[in-house]
Amino acid sequence: MKQLFAILSLLVTVSFLNAQTPAAIKLNTPDKTRGASVMQALTNRQSVREYADRALSLQDLSDLLWAANGINRPDGRRTAATASNKQDIDLYAILPDAAYLYDAREHALKPVAAGDFRPLVAGSQRFALQAPLHLVMVSDFSRLGGSEQSRRLWSALDAGIVSQNIALFCSGCGLGTVPRTSMQSDKLKEALKLTDTQFPLINNIVGYPKQAAATAQAGNFHNFKVRDINGDDLDLASFKGKKVLVVNVASKCGLTPQYTQLQALYKKYGPDKFAIVGFPANNFGKQEPGTDAEIKEFCSTKYSVTFPMMSKISVKGDDIHPLYAWLTQAAVNGKQDAPVTWNFQKFMIDENGNWAGMVPPRTLPDSEIITNWIEGRAAVIN
Ligand SMILES: Cc1cc2nc3c(=O)[nH]c(=O)nc-3n(C[C@H](O)[C@H](O)[C@H](O)COP(=O)(O)O)c2cc1C
Repeated sequence: MKQLFAILSLLVTVSFLNAQTPAAIKLNTPDKTRGASVMQALTNRQSVREYADRALSLQDLSDLLWAANGINRPDGRRTAATASNKQDIDLYAILPDAAYLYDAREHALKPVAAGDFRPLVAGSQRFALQAPLHLVMVSDFSRLGGSEQSRRLWSALDAGIVSQNIALFCSGCGLGTVPRTSMQSDKLKEALKLTDTQFPLINNIVGYPKQAAATAQAGNFHNFKVRDINGDDLDLASFKGKKVLVVNVASKCGLTPQYTQLQALYKKYGPDKFAIVGFPANNFGKQEPGTDAEIKEFCSTKYSVTFPMMSKISVKGDDIHPLYAWLTQAAVNGKQDAPVTWNFQKFMIDENGNWAGMVPPRTLPDSEIITNWIEGRAAVIN
């Protein structure tokens, strides 16, 4: 009995300790191909103060931390410059379960303390509590030489550069952020177990912007997963390295014969460097009423289609599929508003998964605008 009690109390202690000590988070390899162009990221940068109620994906967290202050050269230098390369800025990631320190060498988050410390970063600005991640830039003055005045100046400049890296990553990859100097610095110093020479200087709260909540896979065509016409999951990352024409198709439309040219285009240029992905949709004139099985039968027997066909989706309105929200909304794709106007609208995606252009429904699949793009004779169409 005594023994059983000892084992039970040991188990309780171990599980209590586990609850208290979160594990380190090994971050994914950063995806350095994603995001809008730098000019587009600058065009879209703005402070965001309304966030969707959704945790960050591990890939977004990984890419964000690397962009903020990761190592980008073999000699250990960073994505953010620092005065005399003193690398005085440490990045603390405050997640709902715990506070972590970003270890750039291991590209991992090391736990510092269990608990939700976001209220200490939010201070009196309650909106900040909506954001699932608070990043705090902390300068360690002991790494900086010079006078007190120089250290104050350099540390603030160094922290600001990391903050701007965060802002540009967020605006280029569909996340929202705002730089903030409000926070309860003294309490944060204690919670983060900082030394006397470490000072929290600025924070960036980060999350998915509220208005883009339905389209949270924003950023890149290759981030999306869809269902194919057989009901199997298809990861669009499988199209990396190919140009892709995305077309919303319908079986009973005046434009349905475009299947002939689409198939010819695919035969000529696919499948190694080029693909067509067809999405049946019943949004226009109810001209795609059938089931996936009926649509598959129709396009394979009548038009001998061999390019990838997907399960039927909605390409506009309240039930728009997240991929089409990305294809059609500038706030999400960082490029252009391009609502689908009818069946057989074509979207161009480049080899890196970036939105590259749109061609309206009546422009035929073998038109020059499309073949020039496939053959690389014309710049991307914006
Ligand atoms: C150094 C600095 C401190 C800031 N502190 C706060 C803050 O404590 N709270 C806040 O809501 N916004 C804060 N901001 C965001 C500014 O209010 C915002 O950048 C400014 O209004 C311009 O808007 P924009 O970022 O959309 O261009 C801060 C910005 C900077 C650069």
